[in-house]
Amino acid sequence: MFDPATIDRFKSLKTPFYYYDLNLLRQTLGEIKTHGLDKGYHVHYAIKANFNFRILEIVREAGLGIDCVSGNEIERAIEAGFKPSQIAFAGVGKTDEEIEIGLKYEIYSFNCESLQEIDVLNQLAEKSGKHANVSIRLNPNVEAKTHKYITTGLTENKFGINPDKLPLLFEMLPKLKNISLTGIHFHIGSQIIDLQPFIDLCEKVNRVQDLFEQNDILLQHINVGGGYGINYETPDEEPVPDFKSFFEVFDRNLEIRDGQQVHFELGRSIVGQCGSLISKVLFIKEGLNTNFAVLDAGMTELIRPALYQAAHRVDPLTSTLPEKTYDVVGPICESSDTFRKGIQLPELKRGDLVAIRSAGAYGEVMSSGFNLRERVKAVYSE
Ligand code: LLP
Repeated sequence: MFDPATIDRFKSLKTPFYYYDLNLLRQTLGEIKTHGLDKGYHVHYAIKANFNFRILEIVREAGLGIDCVSGNEIERAIEAGFKPSQIAFAGVGKTDEEIEIGLKYEIYSFNCESLQEIDVLNQLAEKSGKHANVSIRLNPNVEAKTHKYITTGLTENKFGINPDKLPLLFEMLPKLKNISLTGIHFHIGSQIIDLQPFIDLCEKVNRVQDLFEQNDILLQHINVGGGYGINYETPDEEPVPDFKSFFEVFDRNLEIRDGQQVHFELGRSIVGQCGSLISKVLFIKEGLNTNFAVLDAGMTELIRPALYQAAHRVDPLTSTLPEKTYDVVGPICESSDTFRKGIQLPELKRGDLVAIRSAGAYGEVMSSGFNLRERVKAVYSE
Protein backbone atom coordinates (compact mmCIF):
# COMPACT_ATOMS: atom_id res chain seq x y z
CA MET A 1 0.00 0.00 0.00
CA PHE A 2 2.75 2.49 0.90
CA ASP A 3 5.75 2.65 -1.42
CA PRO A 4 9.31 2.85 -0.02
CA ALA A 5 9.60 6.58 -0.83
CA THR A 6 6.44 7.35 1.14
CA ILE A 7 7.65 5.28 4.09
CA ASP A 8 10.98 7.16 3.96
CA ARG A 9 9.04 10.40 4.03
CA PHE A 10 7.08 9.16 7.08
CA LYS A 11 10.38 8.44 8.87
CA SER A 12 11.31 12.11 8.69
CA LEU A 13 7.99 13.33 10.14
CA LYS A 14 6.87 13.69 13.74
CA THR A 15 4.29 11.05 14.62
CA PRO A 16 1.40 10.55 15.05
CA PHE A 17 -0.18 12.12 11.97
CA TYR A 18 -2.95 11.46 9.50
CA TYR A 19 -1.81 10.72 5.97
CA TYR A 20 -4.20 11.28 3.07
CA ASP A 21 -3.75 9.73 -0.36
CA LEU A 22 -5.35 12.37 -2.55
CA ASN A 23 -5.02 10.25 -5.66
CA LEU A 24 -7.17 7.55 -4.12
CA LEU A 25 -9.69 10.22 -3.15
CA ARG A 26 -9.83 11.38 -6.79
CA GLN A 27 -10.24 7.81 -8.00
CA THR A 28 -13.10 7.26 -5.56
CA LEU A 29 -14.81 10.44 -6.69
CA GLY A 30 -14.31 9.34 -10.30
CA GLU A 31 -16.35 6.19 -9.59
CA ILE A 32 -19.08 8.28 -7.97
CA LYS A 33 -19.13 10.46 -11.07
CA THR A 34 -19.40 7.49 -13.43
CA HIS A 35 -22.06 5.56 -11.54
CA GLY A 36 -23.87 8.39 -9.74
CA LEU A 37 -23.49 11.95 -11.04
CA ASP A 38 -23.45 10.95 -14.71
CA LYS A 39 -26.70 9.05 -14.16
CA GLY A 40 -28.34 12.23 -12.89
CA TYR A 41 -27.99 11.58 -9.16
CA HIS A 42 -27.00 14.42 -6.82
CA VAL A 43 -24.38 13.56 -4.23
CA HIS A 44 -23.69 15.72 -1.18
CA TYR A 45 -20.48 14.93 0.65
CA ALA A 46 -21.17 14.55 4.40
CA ILE A 47 -18.58 17.04 5.59
CA LYS A 48 -18.75 15.65 9.12
CA ALA A 49 -16.67 12.69 7.94
CA ASN A 50 -13.66 14.91 7.27
CA PHE A 51 -13.63 18.70 6.98
CA ASN A 52 -10.02 19.31 5.88
CA PHE A 53 -9.75 22.01 3.21
CA ARG A 54 -7.52 19.91 0.93
CA ILE A 55 -10.18 17.20 0.89
CA LEU A 56 -13.03 19.65 0.43
CA GLU A 57 -11.27 21.24 -2.52
CA ILE A 58 -11.03 17.91 -4.35
CA VAL A 59 -14.61 17.00 -3.50
CA ARG A 60 -15.81 20.36 -4.83
CA GLU A 61 -13.81 19.99 -8.05
CA ALA A 62 -15.52 16.62 -8.58
CA GLY A 63 -18.90 18.34 -8.64
CA LEU A 64 -20.41 17.13 -5.38
CA GLY A 65 -22.52 19.22 -3.03
CA ILE A 66 -22.28 19.24 0.77
CA ASP A 67 -24.29 17.85 3.64
CA CYS A 68 -23.81 19.85 6.86
CA VAL A 69 -24.94 19.27 10.42
CA SER A 70 -23.85 22.51 12.11
CA GLY A 71 -23.63 26.22 11.42
CA ASN A 72 -19.85 25.99 11.45
CA GLU A 73 -19.93 23.24 8.83
CA ILE A 74 -22.01 25.53 6.60
CA GLU A 75 -19.44 28.29 7.11
CA ARG A 76 -16.62 25.85 6.33
CA ALA A 77 -18.34 24.65 3.15
CA ILE A 78 -18.84 28.23 1.95
CA GLU A 79 -15.21 29.03 2.76
CA ALA A 80 -14.16 25.98 0.73
CA GLY A 81 -16.02 27.38 -2.27
CA PHE A 82 -19.26 25.39 -2.27
CA LYS A 83 -22.33 27.28 -3.42
CA PRO A 84 -25.26 27.70 -1.02
CA SER A 85 -27.41 25.95 -3.63
CA GLN A 86 -25.29 22.81 -3.05
CA ILE A 87 -25.74 22.74 0.74
CA ALA A 88 -28.18 20.58 2.69
CA PHE A 89 -28.42 21.19 6.43
CA ALA A 90 -29.43 18.24 8.61
CA GLY A 91 -29.34 17.65 12.35
CA VAL A 92 -31.80 16.82 15.09
CA GLY A 93 -30.86 19.84 17.24
CA LYS A 94 -30.22 22.99 15.23
CA THR A 95 -29.88 26.17 17.32
CA ASP A 96 -31.60 29.41 16.25
CA GLU A 97 -28.17 30.84 15.39
CA GLU A 98 -27.40 27.87 13.15
CA ILE A 99 -30.77 28.09 11.41
CA GLU A 100 -30.08 31.79 10.83
CA ILE A 101 -26.75 30.94 9.17
CA GLY A 102 -28.61 28.64 6.76
CA LEU A 103 -31.20 31.32 6.09
CA LYS A 104 -28.54 33.97 5.51
CA TYR A 105 -26.90 31.92 2.77
CA GLU A 106 -30.24 30.70 1.36
CA ILE A 107 -29.06 27.10 1.29
CA TYR A 108 -30.62 24.48 -0.93
CA SER A 109 -32.47 22.60 1.83
CA PHE A 110 -33.07 22.36 5.56
CA ASN A 111 -33.51 18.70 6.45
CA CYS A 112 -35.94 19.10 9.36
CA GLU A 113 -36.27 16.40 11.96
CA SER A 114 -39.41 17.44 13.87
CA LEU A 115 -42.64 19.38 13.32
CA GLN A 116 -41.56 21.83 16.00
CA GLU A 117 -38.33 22.50 14.10
CA ILE A 118 -40.32 23.29 10.95
CA ASP A 119 -42.44 25.73 12.92
CA VAL A 120 -39.38 27.44 14.42
CA LEU A 121 -37.70 27.59 11.00
CA ASN A 122 -40.81 29.26 9.57
CA GLN A 123 -40.79 31.85 12.37
CA LEU A 124 -37.09 32.62 11.97
CA ALA A 125 -37.46 32.84 8.19
CA GLU A 126 -40.35 35.27 8.60
CA LYS A 127 -38.29 37.38 11.02
CA SER A 128 -35.46 37.71 8.53
CA GLY A 129 -37.68 38.07 5.47
CA LYS A 130 -36.46 34.82 3.94
CA HIS A 131 -38.06 31.74 2.44
CA ALA A 132 -36.64 28.30 3.21
CA ASN A 133 -36.85 25.00 1.36
CA VAL A 134 -37.54 22.10 3.66
CA SER A 135 -37.06 18.37 3.39
CA ILE A 136 -38.76 16.49 6.15
CA ARG A 137 -36.66 13.68 7.59
CA LEU A 138 -38.76 10.59 7.97
CA ASN A 139 -37.87 7.62 10.08
CA PRO A 140 -38.47 4.59 7.84
CA ASN A 141 -37.99 1.97 10.59
CA VAL A 142 -35.41 0.08 8.54
CA GLU A 143 -32.84 -2.13 10.27
CA ALA A 144 -29.44 -1.08 8.92
CA LYS A 145 -27.55 -4.10 10.27
CA THR A 146 -24.68 -2.03 11.61
CA HIS A 147 -23.34 -1.03 15.05
CA LYS A 148 -26.13 0.16 17.34
CA TYR A 149 -24.49 3.57 17.89
CA ILE A 150 -24.62 4.31 14.16
CA THR A 151 -28.07 2.93 13.41
CA THR A 152 -30.44 5.84 12.86
CA GLY A 153 -33.51 4.65 10.98
CA LEU A 154 -35.34 2.69 13.68
CA THR A 155 -38.46 3.98 15.42
CA GLU A 156 -36.56 3.95 18.73
CA ASN A 157 -33.86 6.32 17.37
CA LYS A 158 -34.02 10.08 17.94
CA PHE A 159 -33.85 10.95 14.25
CA GLY A 160 -36.61 12.09 11.93
CA ILE A 161 -40.34 11.82 12.41
CA ASN A 162 -42.51 8.75 12.10
CA PRO A 163 -44.61 8.64 8.94
CA ASP A 164 -47.71 8.34 11.17
CA LYS A 165 -47.16 12.04 12.05
CA LEU A 166 -47.54 13.05 8.40
CA PRO A 167 -51.25 14.01 8.68
CA LEU A 168 -50.19 16.65 11.25
CA LEU A 169 -47.57 17.94 8.82
CA PHE A 170 -50.09 18.12 5.96
CA GLU A 171 -52.41 20.08 8.25
CA MET A 172 -49.82 22.64 9.36
CA LEU A 173 -48.13 23.23 5.99
CA PRO A 174 -50.65 25.67 4.46
CA LYS A 175 -50.23 27.96 7.49
CA LEU A 176 -46.47 28.21 7.13
CA LYS A 177 -45.85 31.00 4.64
CA ASN A 178 -42.06 31.23 4.82
CA ILE A 179 -41.22 27.64 4.00
CA SER A 180 -41.88 25.29 1.12
CA LEU A 181 -41.83 21.55 1.57
CA THR A 182 -39.72 20.47 -1.39
CA GLY A 183 -38.50 17.03 -0.40
CA ILE A 184 -38.27 14.10 1.93
CA HIS A 185 -35.12 12.91 3.61
CA PHE A 186 -33.98 9.59 5.07
CA HIS A 187 -30.76 8.27 6.56
CA ILE A 188 -30.81 4.80 8.04
CA GLY A 189 -27.32 4.52 9.49
CA SER A 190 -23.65 4.25 8.71
CA GLN A 191 -21.11 1.57 7.70
CA ILE A 192 -23.79 -0.44 5.87
CA ILE A 193 -22.16 -3.14 3.74
CA ASP A 194 -25.12 -5.40 3.03
CA LEU A 195 -27.22 -3.68 0.33
CA GLN A 196 -30.53 -5.17 1.52
CA PRO A 197 -31.27 -2.33 4.01
CA PHE A 198 -31.01 0.14 1.09
CA ILE A 199 -33.49 -1.99 -0.90
CA ASP A 200 -35.82 -1.96 2.13
CA LEU A 201 -35.40 1.81 2.31
CA CYS A 202 -36.40 2.23 -1.34
CA GLU A 203 -39.60 0.29 -0.71
CA LYS A 204 -40.47 2.52 2.25
CA VAL A 205 -39.74 5.64 0.20
CA ASN A 206 -42.05 4.45 -2.57
CA ARG A 207 -44.91 3.95 -0.14
CA VAL A 208 -44.34 7.30 1.58
CA GLN A 209 -44.31 9.07 -1.80
CA ASP A 210 -47.81 7.78 -2.46
CA LEU A 211 -48.98 9.37 0.79
CA PHE A 212 -47.66 12.77 -0.27
CA GLU A 213 -49.33 12.49 -3.66
CA GLN A 214 -52.64 11.59 -2.05
CA ASN A 215 -52.29 14.96 -0.30
CA ASP A 216 -51.48 16.77 -3.56
CA ILE A 217 -47.86 17.38 -2.61
CA LEU A 218 -45.42 16.84 -5.43
CA LEU A 219 -41.93 16.35 -4.10
CA GLN A 220 -39.03 17.88 -6.04
CA HIS A 221 -36.43 15.74 -4.42
CA ILE A 222 -35.92 12.54 -2.52
CA ASN A 223 -32.85 12.46 -0.29
CA VAL A 224 -31.91 8.93 0.71
CA GLY A 225 -28.97 9.96 2.92
CA GLY A 226 -25.64 8.17 3.15
CA GLY A 227 -24.37 5.19 5.04
CA TYR A 228 -22.58 3.08 2.44
CA GLY A 229 -19.76 1.23 4.18
CA ILE A 230 -16.13 0.43 3.42
CA ASN A 231 -13.93 -2.66 3.75
CA TYR A 232 -11.99 -2.21 7.02
CA GLU A 233 -10.65 -5.76 7.05
CA THR A 234 -8.78 -5.81 3.73
CA PRO A 235 -8.70 -2.22 2.45
CA ASP A 236 -6.14 -2.97 -0.27
CA GLU A 237 -8.57 -5.43 -1.88
CA GLU A 238 -11.26 -2.76 -2.08
CA PRO A 239 -9.68 0.70 -1.93
CA VAL A 240 -12.68 2.14 -3.80
CA PRO A 241 -16.13 0.97 -2.68
CA ASP A 242 -18.34 -0.70 -5.27
CA PHE A 243 -20.42 2.34 -6.21
CA LYS A 244 -21.83 0.62 -9.29
CA SER A 245 -23.72 -1.89 -7.15
CA PHE A 246 -24.72 0.81 -4.67
CA PHE A 247 -26.31 3.18 -7.19
CA GLU A 248 -27.90 0.25 -9.05
CA VAL A 249 -29.98 -0.51 -5.95
CA PHE A 250 -31.65 2.86 -6.33
CA ASP A 251 -31.93 2.56 -10.13
CA ARG A 252 -33.81 -0.69 -9.69
CA ASN A 253 -35.90 -0.06 -6.60
CA LEU A 254 -36.79 3.61 -6.33
CA GLU A 255 -39.92 4.76 -8.15
CA ILE A 256 -38.99 8.20 -9.32
CA ARG A 257 -41.56 10.64 -10.66
CA ASP A 258 -40.91 12.80 -13.73
CA GLY A 259 -38.51 15.64 -13.03
CA GLN A 260 -37.81 14.44 -9.51
CA GLN A 261 -34.21 14.57 -8.24
CA VAL A 262 -32.58 11.91 -6.11
CA HIS A 263 -29.98 13.08 -3.59
CA PHE A 264 -27.42 11.16 -1.54
CA GLU A 265 -25.28 12.18 1.45
CA LEU A 266 -22.18 10.02 1.42
CA GLY A 267 -19.34 10.49 3.87
CA ARG A 268 -17.36 7.42 4.87
CA SER A 269 -17.44 5.75 1.45
CA ILE A 270 -15.80 8.86 -0.10
CA VAL A 271 -12.97 9.58 2.33
CA GLY A 272 -12.62 6.48 4.53
CA GLN A 273 -10.00 4.58 2.57
CA CYS A 274 -7.80 7.53 1.59
CA GLY A 275 -6.69 8.22 5.17
CA SER A 276 -4.35 6.35 7.53
CA LEU A 277 -3.15 7.22 11.00
CA ILE A 278 0.64 6.84 11.05
CA SER A 279 2.11 6.10 14.44
CA LYS A 280 5.35 4.98 16.03
CA VAL A 281 5.89 2.11 18.47
CA LEU A 282 7.00 3.58 21.79
CA PHE A 283 7.44 0.41 23.80
CA ILE A 284 6.98 -3.33 23.57
CA LYS A 285 6.13 -5.18 26.72
CA GLU A 286 5.19 -8.74 27.52
CA GLY A 287 1.75 -9.35 28.92
CA LEU A 288 0.26 -12.53 30.34
CA ASN A 289 -0.86 -14.03 27.03
CA THR A 290 0.23 -11.41 24.54
CA ASN A 291 2.74 -8.71 23.80
CA PHE A 292 1.66 -5.11 24.07
CA ALA A 293 2.78 -2.77 21.31
CA VAL A 294 2.33 0.67 22.85
CA LEU A 295 1.91 3.32 20.14
CA ASP A 296 2.28 7.08 20.28
CA ALA A 297 -1.28 7.38 18.87
CA GLY A 298 -4.31 6.54 20.94
CA MET A 299 -8.04 7.01 21.30
CA THR A 300 -7.42 10.75 21.33
CA GLU A 301 -6.39 10.51 17.65
CA LEU A 302 -8.79 7.71 16.58
CA ILE A 303 -11.71 7.01 18.87
CA ARG A 304 -13.58 4.55 16.64
CA PRO A 305 -12.17 1.33 18.22
CA ALA A 306 -13.05 2.55 21.73
CA LEU A 307 -16.47 3.89 20.78
CA TYR A 308 -17.78 1.37 18.25
CA GLN A 309 -15.46 -1.62 18.75
CA ALA A 310 -14.24 -0.86 15.23
CA ALA A 311 -11.37 -3.01 13.99
CA HIS A 312 -9.02 -0.92 11.84
CA ARG A 313 -6.28 -2.84 10.11
CA VAL A 314 -2.81 -2.21 11.56
CA ASP A 315 0.00 -2.50 8.98
CA PRO A 316 3.61 -2.43 10.18
CA LEU A 317 5.62 -0.29 7.75
CA THR A 318 9.18 -0.92 8.85
CA SER A 319 9.36 -4.52 10.05
CA THR A 320 9.77 -7.70 7.99
CA LEU A 321 10.57 -10.03 10.90
CA PRO A 322 8.57 -13.21 11.64
CA GLU A 323 5.16 -12.67 13.22
CA LYS A 324 4.24 -12.46 16.91
CA THR A 325 0.94 -11.87 18.68
CA TYR A 326 0.13 -8.34 19.80
CA ASP A 327 -2.40 -6.16 21.53
CA VAL A 328 -1.89 -2.83 19.81
CA VAL A 329 -2.63 -0.11 22.33
CA GLY A 330 -2.35 3.65 22.79
CA PRO A 331 -0.78 5.71 25.58
CA ILE A 332 -4.00 7.00 27.18
CA CYS A 333 -4.90 5.94 30.72
CA GLU A 334 -8.03 3.99 29.74
CA SER A 335 -8.19 0.28 28.97
CA SER A 336 -10.51 1.08 26.07
CA ASP A 337 -7.52 2.78 24.45
CA THR A 338 -6.84 -0.37 22.44
CA PHE A 339 -6.70 -0.52 18.65
CA ARG A 340 -6.54 -4.31 18.23
CA LYS A 341 -6.33 -7.34 20.50
CA GLY A 342 -4.43 -10.56 19.80
CA ILE A 343 -3.42 -9.93 16.20
CA GLN A 344 -0.47 -11.43 14.38
CA LEU A 345 2.06 -8.87 13.16
CA PRO A 346 5.70 -8.96 12.05
CA GLU A 347 7.76 -8.52 15.20
CA LEU A 348 7.73 -4.89 16.27
CA LYS A 349 10.48 -2.96 17.97
CA ARG A 350 10.67 0.47 19.58
CA GLY A 351 10.71 3.07 16.79
CA ASP A 352 8.90 0.96 14.16
CA LEU A 353 6.18 2.73 12.20
CA VAL A 354 2.67 1.38 11.75
CA ALA A 355 -0.26 2.56 9.64
CA ILE A 356 -3.74 2.31 11.11
CA ARG A 357 -5.75 1.99 7.97
CA SER A 358 -9.15 3.19 6.66
CA ALA A 359 -9.11 6.17 8.99
CA GLY A 360 -10.01 8.97 6.57
CA ALA A 361 -13.60 9.20 7.81
CA TYR A 362 -14.52 10.04 11.42
CA GLY A 363 -10.85 9.83 12.38
CA GLU A 364 -9.07 13.17 12.56
CA VAL A 365 -12.36 15.05 12.94
CA MET A 366 -13.27 13.08 16.07
CA SER A 367 -9.86 13.56 17.71
CA SER A 368 -9.82 15.20 21.12
CA GLY A 369 -7.55 17.10 23.45
CA PHE A 370 -7.99 14.62 26.33
CA ASN A 371 -4.83 14.39 28.45
CA LEU A 372 -3.87 17.74 26.89
CA ARG A 373 -2.64 15.85 23.85
CA GLU A 374 -1.43 17.89 20.91
CA ARG A 375 -3.96 18.15 18.08
CA VAL A 376 -3.06 15.53 15.49
CA LYS A 377 -1.67 16.88 12.19
CA ALA A 378 -2.53 16.07 8.59
CA VAL A 379 0.00 15.18 5.87
CA TYR A 380 -0.97 14.81 2.22
CA SER A 381 0.39 12.68 -0.58
CA GLU A 382 0.87 15.88 -2.64
N1 LLP B 1 -26.47 11.97 6.39
C1 LLP B 1 -26.80 12.03 7.70
C2 LLP B 1 -28.07 12.64 8.07
C3 LLP B 1 -25.95 11.48 8.66
O1 LLP B 1 -26.29 11.54 9.94
C4 LLP B 1 -24.72 10.88 8.25
C5 LLP B 1 -23.81 10.32 9.22
C6 LLP B 1 -24.41 10.86 6.88
C7 LLP B 1 -25.32 11.40 5.98
C8 LLP B 1 -23.15 10.26 6.34
O2 LLP B 1 -23.05 8.91 6.62
P1 LLP B 1 -21.89 8.01 6.00
O3 LLP B 1 -22.08 7.97 4.51
O4 LLP B 1 -20.57 8.62 6.36
O5 LLP B 1 -22.09 6.69 6.64
N2 LLP B 1 -18.79 8.48 13.77
C9 LLP B 1 -19.38 7.26 13.25
C10 LLP B 1 -20.30 7.53 12.08
C11 LLP B 1 -21.41 8.49 12.41
C12 LLP B 1 -22.26 8.81 11.22
C13 LLP B 1 -23.19 9.90 11.54
N3 LLP B 1 -24.03 10.31 10.48
C14 LLP B 1 -18.27 6.30 12.86
O6 LLP B 1 -17.10 6.63 13.03
O7 LLP B 1 -18.53 5.17 12.46
